Amino acid sequence: MSRRGQAVHELIFHDGSAAGDATAEAVCAHFDRRYATRAGYFGARPSLGLLRYCPQDGAGRSALDLGCGPGRNSLQLARRGYGVTAVDYSAAAVRELRNRAGAEGLPVCPVCADLHDYELPAGAFDVVVAVTVLGLLRRSALPALARRVVAAIKPGGVLLVEELGRSDPGRLRREGASEFASLIRRYFAPEELRDLFRPLEAICCRELVLTDTTHGTRHRHALVRYVGRRRPDRAADGREELPWH
Ligand SMILES: C[S@@+](CC[C@H](N)C(=O)[O-])C[C@H]1O[C@@H](n2cnc3c(N)ncnc32)[C@H](O)[C@@H]1O
Repeated sequence: MSRRGQAVHELIFHDGSAAGDATAEAVCAHFDRRYATRAGYFGARPSLGLLRYCPQDGAGRSALDLGCGPGRNSLQLARRGYGVTAVDYSAAAVRELRNRAGAEGLPVCPVCADLHDYELPAGAFDVVVAVTVLGLLRRSALPALARRVVAAIKPGGVLLVEELGRSDPGRLRREGASEFASLIRRYFAPEELRDLFRPLEAICCRELVLTDTTHGTRHRHALVRYVGRRRPDRAADGREELPWH
C-alpha cells in the first residue's frame, strides 16, 4: 500500500466513517455491536495489572472503572469488596454489567456517560482503573480528563492505566492487529502516560508485549502499563497521613 493509501486507511472506520471526526457515540456504537455478539466480550479474567497493583482487600473502599466495557475489571474489584462506579458510553456494556453484577449481588453502579465531559467527585476513590479507553478519546480532551482523574483519587489511592503502546501491531498496520485497531486515536509511549498523570508518583510505567485471546482472532498487543499513587497528605509534623482503612 502506498504511504498515501496507508494514511487514508488509518483514518477510515470499517463502516467508512472517519476516525478523526468520529463522535463518541459512533465509537461506542462499534462496541455496542461487538458486545451484542456474545456476553463477556473481553473475557472473564481481569487485567493482570489490577491483580498485581490494586489492594486485595476492598472492604470499605471505593473504585472507579473508566471505559468499563462488560465489566471484567469492575466485577473483580467488587468481588474483592470495593464499591464500584463503572462508566461506559456503550449502552450494551452498561446493561450487561448491570445484569452480571445484579446476578452476583455485587456493589457495582454502572453509569452510561461520555468520558469526554464526565464530571468526577474530588477525593472520592481509592482505586481508579482505565484499561484501553484513553486511546479511544479525542486527544484534546485528555489533559482535562487526566486532571479530573487525579483529583478524584483519595490521598494514598492508586491509578492503573493500561493503553496500547507505540509498537502495537495495530499502529504499525501489521498482520494480527485487533479488530478495534481502526478506532484507536492514540498509541502511548510510557513517558506520555507518566506526564499526563504527573502529579502522581509513578510506581510502574513500562511497555509489555501480550498475546490477547479474549476476543477476535488471537492477536498481540504492545501494552503500556502505568500505575500511579496519589501521595498521602502530610500531617502537621511532616509524617504521611494515610486514609483510615
Ligand atoms: C477496548 S474496550 C475496554 C473495556 C474494558 N476496560 C476492559 O478492559 O475490558 C473500551 C471501552 O471504552 C468505551 N468507550 C470508548 N469511548 C468512550 C467514551 N467517550 N466514553 C465512555 N466510554 C467510552 C467503549 O464503549 C468500550 O466499552
